Amino acid sequence: MSKLFEPGTVAIVTGAARGIGRAIAVELACEGCNVVVNCRTSNEAAAETLRQVEAQGVRGLIVEADVSAADEAKALVDAAIAEFGHVDVLVNNAGITADGLLATMTPEDFNRVLQVNLGGTFNCMKAATRPMMRAKHGAIVNISSVVGVAGNAGQANYAASKAGIIGLTKSAAKELARKKVRVNAVAPGFIATDMTNAMTDQAKERTVANIGLGAIGQAQDIAHAVAFLASDKASYITGQVLRVDGGLII
Ligand code: NAI
Repeated sequence: MSKLFEPGTVAIVTGAARGIGRAIAVELACEGCNVVVNCRTSNEAAAETLRQVEAQGVRGLIVEADVSAADEAKALVDAAIAEFGHVDVLVNNAGITADGLLATMTPEDFNRVLQVNLGGTFNCMKAATRPMMRAKHGAIVNISSVVGVAGNAGQANYAASKAGIIGLTKSAAKELARKKVRVNAVAPGFIATDMTNAMTDQAKERTVANIGLGAIGQAQDIAHAVAFLASDKASYITGQVLRVDGGLII
């Protein structure tokens, strides 16, 4: 069966040591991409992602970078180009939560979540955009959240960051379309990862009760959508937000 990507396609996935990021990295590798596995600090989890990427018969590279720092995001893109010569796909997946009710949320928790989720996405997009524009070719997929569409009590900072990613995605899509660089977002619903494992069983049950398809999603569900949007199969799609949520919000 033919793969989604031409051999030699290069993809950067941020926050790829575990969870959804790892699933995206492995899926892109499986579909033919060489993959740059970004992690904030290199560890055994990142090494495991790299092993799974290379097991698909493509090349991989771990690059340590805190995407919330502009110079580190730039160094990440530079490292990818130094190793592979070009960057075709950027997936902004790195994200954090620091939940709390608005009345008690500290400015530090608000700012940090914005800085990593929205700022990190901006930093990496800014760094990757110039080489993609020059090549008149590229696809960026940003990981938002259904919470960025609908809001969520206790997640004002996170929801603001994910809503911001949608605005950033649409604006960049308008700016870059003429340069043949596509920018889309995927908005996951409730996906089984370390991030959601932190929720209480009661909160999980309440959420599942609202999911039309009646089950928690898997990281692989997000990875499939990302691979599609990053590939030429989506060559006429830009500026869109694809919700992958089992019908949580219809
Ligand atoms: P996770 O917490 O398992 O993984 C996030 C990864 O991002 C970790 O490897 C972490 O080290 C990395 N990271 C955090 N800050 C970073 C930084 N400054 N620089 C580089 N890497 C950094 O989370 P999960 O669930 O895999 O989430 C991945 C993305 O999907 C996040 O953007 C999250 O907001 C989003 N998402 C997840 C949902 C879920 O139900 N799990 C639902 C909707 C969106």
